[in-house]
Amino acid sequence: MDGETFRTLRRKLRRTQIELAEELNRHCRQTCDRAMLSRWESGRDSIPGEVVNAMEAWTDRQPRDARVFALANQKGGVGKTTSALNLAYALMQLEQRVLLLDLDPQATATSVLFGQAATELFRQRRTVAHVILDDQAMADAVTRGGEAVDGRSAPFDFVGSHINLAGVDMRREPGFDAALQDSLEALRSSYDFVIVDAPPNLGTLTWMALGAADLVIVPVQTEPYDAMGVSMILETVRKVQRRLNPGLRIAGILPTRFSANLVIDREVLNHLVTAMADIAPVIEPVPSSTIYSHAAWASRITLEASPRSKVVQVYVRLAEAMVAGRPLPRATQTAVSPEVPIRPEVA
Ligand SMILES: Nc1ncnc2c1ncn2[C@@H]1O[C@H](COP(=O)(O)OP(=O)(O)OP(=O)(O)O)[C@@H](O)[C@H]1O
Ligand SMILES: [Mg+2]
Repeated sequence: MDGETFRTLRRKLRRTQIELAEELNRHCRQTCDRAMLSRWESGRDSIPGEVVNAMEAWTDRQPRDARVFALANQKGGVGKTTSALNLAYALMQLEQRVLLLDLDPQATATSVLFGQAATELFRQRRTVAHVILDDQAMADAVTRGGEAVDGRSAPFDFVGSHINLAGVDMRREPGFDAALQDSLEALRSSYDFVIVDAPPNLGTLTWMALGAADLVIVPVQTEPYDAMGVSMILETVRKVQRRLNPGLRIAGILPTRFSANLVIDREVLNHLVTAMADIAPVIEPVPSSTIYSHAAWASRITLEASPRSKVVQVYVRLAEAMVAGRPLPRATQTAVSPEVPIRPEVA
């Protein structure tokens, strides 16, 4: 981008050089000031790629289709819901229009956000179960960010779940796997991102999540058995690509609950990176920390409860890459002692 275009975009955003420098410092991890912006605008210095991406994203106010990300893995307790909530929150903080969809009959995300008020959401027919099983319009099931329901609210737009959603596995009708894809279609121009939190199985709901998604993130605990199970979800992704949604791409495998000081965790991470080399990117791992359980216990989103904590910043970095349309930050292999005898088949 040349200086003249940069200046035009800055004016379109109605920002002074000082205001824009402050915003760039907040959102892009750049250290810039008014003088630096002057040099960019006069063409004396070249504009860093990260700044160009941010300017293009901020000024792109044309209605465009949401990118749908599914968090999926048949394995339970690997961090799907935690990642969905924190990514949605981080994207919202980056001023993105976000919809989080709880597609798990366990309704964990719904309980975190609405607690007891989930009963009222169900009474008002505002759950994804009503959309998929009763053919209700998705738009009528959305709770707007900040909208109070029985004294509770979500920070971003949200469609809750309910145990009745488990009935999906009993339903037989032509093209049923595409029901979520269909019902999201009308909302795509209203959001920048739709995040789908899938349930821990390879049943119809996971097919639906993958059928509706543009990109899938596969959270996986840095534990040997969990890493071995990655091949099952990847095989399902391949089937969905073949039969239902050729546009589906793997954004990456997201290692969670990673303890860099444990040799076994480093070994499992290294193995994932090697085994996935030609299959899918392995994303920068989410550190293991009790702040996640503390936040869960208090029914809060970790990033909202502990915004300054280092261990949640990975979700901010992921969200920044998603907004800029960049590949997600990759895991790096680290040294491990050679005596750890683990050679699982993960792919
Ligand atoms: N990085 C982390 N460090 C420590 N604990 C974590 C981390 N991420 C998630 N947890 C905890 O692990 C538990 C399971 O996480 P979560 O509910 O996100 O997994 P899930 O894959 O959605 O589970 P399910 O398959 O049952 O839906 C929660 O108690 C959560 O607080
Ligand atoms: Mg979950």
